[in-house]
Amino acid sequence: MAISFRRLLFLVPLGLVPSAAATFRPRILADTNRDGVVNHLDEPHKHDWTASRGAIFLPNIGDSTHRCPAVDLTGAPLSNDELWRCHDASGDHLLPLSAKYAAPLLTVPLLDVSDNAVGRIYTEPAHTRDRVRLFWKENDWSTGYSDVWATVDPQVTFNATSLRKGITLAMDGRELVTDAAVWDGSVRVVFEVTDGDQTAHDFVAMKQAPVLLHHHLQRAEVILSTAAGDNKTIGSSWQAHFLRGLEKAIDGDVPIVLFNQSTDIWAQDFLEPGYASMPGPDGPISIRILLRSAQSTREAGRQVFSQLRSVGIGGFQPGSGSGFGWEEINSGGNIETIPPYTSRDGKRWSNGRVIMGQHFGTYPADSMVKFLQSQQAQTPLFLETGWLAVGHVDEMVQFLPTTTTPLNFTLAIADTTSALTLLQTANTTGHGTTPFVSYRGDATPDLLTPFLDPTLLHNTTTIASLLASPSFHSTQTYAQHHLTTTLALLLRELPLDETDILRVPTLFKDVTYPWPATPDGHPSRLARAPRGERQLKGLVPQAINGLVVGGRSGKYVAPRQWGPVVGGKDVFGEAVEEVYGRVGMEVVWVDDYMSHHVRGGEVHCGTNALREMGGWWEGGDSD
Ligand SMILES: *[C@@H]1O[C@H](CO)[C@@H](O)[C@H](O)[C@H]1NC(C)=O
Ligand SMILES: *[C@@H]1O[C@H](CO)[C@@H](O)[C@H](O)[C@H]1NC(C)=O
Ligand SMILES: *[C@@H]1O[C@H](CO)[C@@H](O)[C@H](O)[C@H]1NC(C)=O
Ligand SMILES: *[C@@H]1O[C@H](CO)[C@@H](O)[C@H](O)[C@H]1NC(C)=O
Ligand SMILES: *[C@@H]1O[C@H](CO)[C@@H](O)[C@H](O)[C@H]1NC(C)=O
Ligand SMILES: *[C@@H]1O[C@H](CO)[C@@H](O)[C@H](O)[C@H]1NC(C)=O
Repeated sequence: MAISFRRLLFLVPLGLVPSAAATFRPRILADTNRDGVVNHLDEPHKHDWTASRGAIFLPNIGDSTHRCPAVDLTGAPLSNDELWRCHDASGDHLLPLSAKYAAPLLTVPLLDVSDNAVGRIYTEPAHTRDRVRLFWKENDWSTGYSDVWATVDPQVTFNATSLRKGITLAMDGRELVTDAAVWDGSVRVVFEVTDGDQTAHDFVAMKQAPVLLHHHLQRAEVILSTAAGDNKTIGSSWQAHFLRGLEKAIDGDVPIVLFNQSTDIWAQDFLEPGYASMPGPDGPISIRILLRSAQSTREAGRQVFSQLRSVGIGGFQPGSGSGFGWEEINSGGNIETIPPYTSRDGKRWSNGRVIMGQHFGTYPADSMVKFLQSQQAQTPLFLETGWLAVGHVDEMVQFLPTTTTPLNFTLAIADTTSALTLLQTANTTGHGTTPFVSYRGDATPDLLTPFLDPTLLHNTTTIASLLASPSFHSTQTYAQHHLTTTLALLLRELPLDETDILRVPTLFKDVTYPWPATPDGHPSRLARAPRGERQLKGLVPQAINGLVVGGRSGKYVAPRQWGPVVGGKDVFGEAVEEVYGRVGMEVVWVDDYMSHHVRGGEVHCGTNALREMGGWWEGGDSD
């Protein structure tokens, strides 16, 4: 008792310190021990929030009643900022369907006070009063004795009847932590009771749950793609074909939801799905937080709010300080996550760690980087992706669930060496004249197929002709240099053996463009290659750039290779199946040649996944 009282004196701002020790002791509790219920077991250490102990609350930013519009009263689109500012917790009511996302608190019945006692409940520091909402449960006699949640602000007082009965409370967050230097999510909920000339306080430390990004050990619960194909004028005439392949590959395992308010086919890129969780009586209570990409003019990202925001799903709009326009470096495909691990130097990343690509010293938008850093859980690790024309991490590395390593996952990386060996072997065994690309389907270009190379679709590019081309070899050498550097960096961080690494055969094509003109006529989207560097994309569809269904599902949805066919088998397809097969994964092919590959992406770029969510607080980080 003495210890916690001293600590109380120490932490509560000076103005609150009682003048004389009171004869009563108010107590307020939240779920400090994280067992999902609030009771006397939450008393110890409730004043200090640490990684392993301390009550958690959620940002309650879904739109459970679909009350938030996307347009104003004149029908004009709301600004990006207006669009995301409306959500369940932007109002002052705890809406019924959103109440489960509010964290429970209570005051312990306080019996030894007079009828004149008055209680107040408020948060400290003062700036948190705009950032969180507090409610108390009162019986509303007018609505048939049902419980209603009433707002608690610092002016609300509780009488002796309520203090003696104990007050049932709920708290939620009305904004996300976007800059930990301004607010890191910490709140103290203070319970102050005055009786006559005596005043006494108690408080409980709470912290808003970080927004975490998904990794592949979490199974997909919803797969996202885009409708986008119905209007051939502005959309993709190939998207419907892609969706038929995707549906066949998923085969009903996971529901597929299509974005349908935009013609942007890159469902991986205009958002990055995340979530926040707190303990609940029946396991973690989680809310999805979908991060719109920091691409202010990429209209498709508005669908995070205008289409998906609902009960249990909210969104984040990166601030206007950076991330204007539509630069590819800010796409979701350039944000991936290493599953949980302990680094070689002993740091525990219990929720894994985000990886992002930088382009020769140019970094993704500060508004997103700072947001991810401010969650203080999965601080981004940067890899070099400027040598890729589009420049996303998903074009070169991937994390795969496996029981074959102590980490329960391994790293796959694009690899030109094994791909060249495949070609050499085919050539040596007398298949040099085999056409390199076996795609023979409809190749009618639509408006957005900048990387369509008709010469590859003729039989003139053969295995032997490629192997005889010095520029082909120099492109592969250049790519391998960057891939080797990336692998070395990741192996300095992750305790994986060289032999655990899956090398996915991949060949690249040099598409360095005459900047500022870019292949698709969008100068601001793609950067300029520095002198001496190039910009590459996959020569055949990049097998590594596919969709991992994840968890215990061994399904891997990969872009059909359309590589050289020898003895009735696609040389690349067979090799890719063998590589993923080593970790028990079954490759299911989807044709994305015309829908995505010749536009600069693959299956992964055209899809996304809302994955399992869970308790992030177990397995404590070591910082
Ligand atoms: C005390 O507060 C409760 C809840 O607001 C109210 O129902 C009750 O009438 C109050 N009691 C007195 C004695 O004012
Ligand atoms: C396709 O989109 C264009 C541009 O927005 C529009 O003019 C046209 O009417 C649309 N066509 C169909 C069939 O919806
Ligand atoms: C768009 O998708 C949503 C599901 O997210 C669905 O409810 C809605 O009916 C679809 N709208 C159209 C026009 O297909
Ligand atoms: C790997 O998975 C097994 C089985 O789920 C689990 O018991 C073990 O703790 C996991 N190892 C790590 C390092 O997460
Ligand atoms: C490929 O095979 C042809 C014979 O079919 C041979 O002339 C050529 O040298 C081989 N190329 C390489 C790089 O081995
Ligand atoms: C290309 O080669 C394939 C066999 O590899 C053959 O079936 C096809 O007819 C050829 N096409 C052309 C246009 O030469």
